[in-house]
Amino acid sequence: MQRVTLDDKTFEVSIPNAEILAAIDALAARINADYRDRGGVPLFLGVLNGAFMFISELLQKINFPCEVSFVKLSSYHGTSSTGTVTELIGLKDNIKGRHVIIVEDIVDTGESVAHLMNSLTGHQPASIEIATMLFKPGSYRKDFNIKYPAMEIPNDFIVGFGLDYDQLGRNLRDIYKIVDE
Ligand code: IMP
Ligand code: MG
Repeated sequence: MQRVTLDDKTFEVSIPNAEILAAIDALAARINADYRDRGGVPLFLGVLNGAFMFISELLQKINFPCEVSFVKLSSYHGTSSTGTVTELIGLKDNIKGRHVIIVEDIVDTGESVAHLMNSLTGHQPASIEIATMLFKPGSYRKDFNIKYPAMEIPNDFIVGFGLDYDQLGRNLRDIYKIVDE
């Protein structure tokens, strides 16, 4: 099994690149079918930093007119969520009456997504859904429906394809999980 070391931790390949791309493909097909006849110009709102690779793959496969924008949140330190979400770059777009699709790298406890849902609802969008590359149902503790997960995974800490361990590993083309030693 191919391994990488990032700072003090070792990781092994868990989801190879081809499998990630196939899952994103399948998710894009679902979103295309659901939004084709909804009208308006939906906004894909990427959550930085982690979602940059996912949103770039996903958007290349979207076949209706859409816009893309970003917000920046931070909640993780090391390998666990701090539970406090900090908004580093806020919403700059007018979303009133528009269909919004939040694009996350991963939904873990759900704190980040809950924070975003609560702050976006106040701007009166026509609808908001959540697309995430990865979903950890085992640690999710919120009630918002995660309508568009590309892949579901167990509670392991992972890196790669945008996800980091203390900012390292975002550039890896495969997804790696932490090795217990
Ligand atoms: P949540 O607020 O607990 O759902 O966590 C959301 C954010 O924590 C994600 O957008 C990621 O940036 C980060 N995160 C959660 N799980 C992992 C992981 O396994 N590896 C790297 N980052 C993670
Ligand atoms: Mg993130």
